[in-house]
Amino acid sequence: MVEPAEVQHGLEDVVALESRICFIDGKQGRLIYDGYDIRDLAARSTFEEVAYLLWYGRLPTAAQLHDLTARLTELRRLPETLAVEIDALPATAHPMDILRTAVSALALLEPEETKPGESSIGGAQRLTAVLPSILGRFHRRRAGLPALRDRPELSHAAYLVYALLDRAPTELEARAIDVALILHADHELNASTFAARVTASTLSDLYSAVTSAIGTLKGPLHGGANERVMELLEEIGTVDRVEEVVKGKLSRHERIMGFGHRVYKVEDPRATILREWSRRVGEAHGSLRYYELLRKVEEVVLREKGLYPNVDLYSGSVYSLLGIPHDLFTPVFAASRVAGWTAHVLEEYHDLRLIRPTAKYVGALDLPYVPIAQRH
Ligand code: COA
Repeated sequence: MVEPAEVQHGLEDVVALESRICFIDGKQGRLIYDGYDIRDLAARSTFEEVAYLLWYGRLPTAAQLHDLTARLTELRRLPETLAVEIDALPATAHPMDILRTAVSALALLEPEETKPGESSIGGAQRLTAVLPSILGRFHRRRAGLPALRDRPELSHAAYLVYALLDRAPTELEARAIDVALILHADHELNASTFAARVTASTLSDLYSAVTSAIGTLKGPLHGGANERVMELLEEIGTVDRVEEVVKGKLSRHERIMGFGHRVYKVEDPRATILREWSRRVGEAHGSLRYYELLRKVEEVVLREKGLYPNVDLYSGSVYSLLGIPHDLFTPVFAASRVAGWTAHVLEEYHDLRLIRPTAKYVGALDLPYVPIAQRH
């Protein structure tokens, strides 16, 4: 029995397990998936290729990528029972709640895919393929858009845009979303991945692990930050107001979303890449307003607080320019991170050890039991 050590609040700097999937060098600002630098992957690969890498630990050959792409396309379709259930849920709900509920419901319909073990890779591919369809089914009803159709010619990124907006993206837009999906696909033991691994470590099923992860990603300190960044930009309005609004928030000790990171102590490399895509997509849409506002916000936050941008600062501006509603930003994050969550769950099943830390007890001891009639 190991004696309890000092409390590491928020498990900061605690090394909880070994993993081959993702490495973050917080001092150098580097992010590696299975040996490959995120900058190379963002410049040269696709989301499908990265998902293969995360699941199998190596880049696919052309034939393997072709097979995986075909399989993901096949697996997009929603079971009718689930489609009907999604339609019965309140149209006013947050799409993250819909996603969590739909994945949980899908576990009842697909018991084989969700079992821990050999078939889990099938479940991983099924969930990755189907999340855009769940979101599309829900969003199209509330937005009055036509029903989803199979679009086998569309890549995963382009299908996600089609599912949400009922239009195929331009080549530049599809690439911007593909890059965003690559950048969000994994991030070591972030809170939602840790939640997925904790669930899997009890030998619970894959869909339950992903349900836990979705519930964890939803929080504004994790996946919800990019939505809040766009709210901040709306509040600011014009570049000349950035200084006043940001300084005001900092003086009230409010957090500026899209800044700071538990691991990166320099600029998050994903922010560097997305900043450039925000500019490119802005130029293509004839509006650099978000880009310019964000540049100014960056300048003020760095000067006043010494904080660098994280992945969430620029992603929302790219999604907004395409016309994706703000409450779908975190679900888009989930549609990417599901590849990482499931890769980690597969790894957990392979190298299983119940995750169960201890707490330092700070309560009372040996209190005399007081009968209820004598309590006041
Ligand atoms: N805006 C303002 N101040 C911030 C900040 C932010 N975004 N992020 C950190 N800080 C400040 C804290 O207030 C604290 O200041 P203090 O020492 O004066 O009290 C200090 O920096 C350390 O913050 P702490 O919360 O201990 O760091 P952490 O490692 O736990 O935080 C985050 C990591 C991501 C939770 C945090 O940076 C944050 O809340 N960011 C905004 C949300 C966000 O963008 N999330 C997406 C992450 S990818």
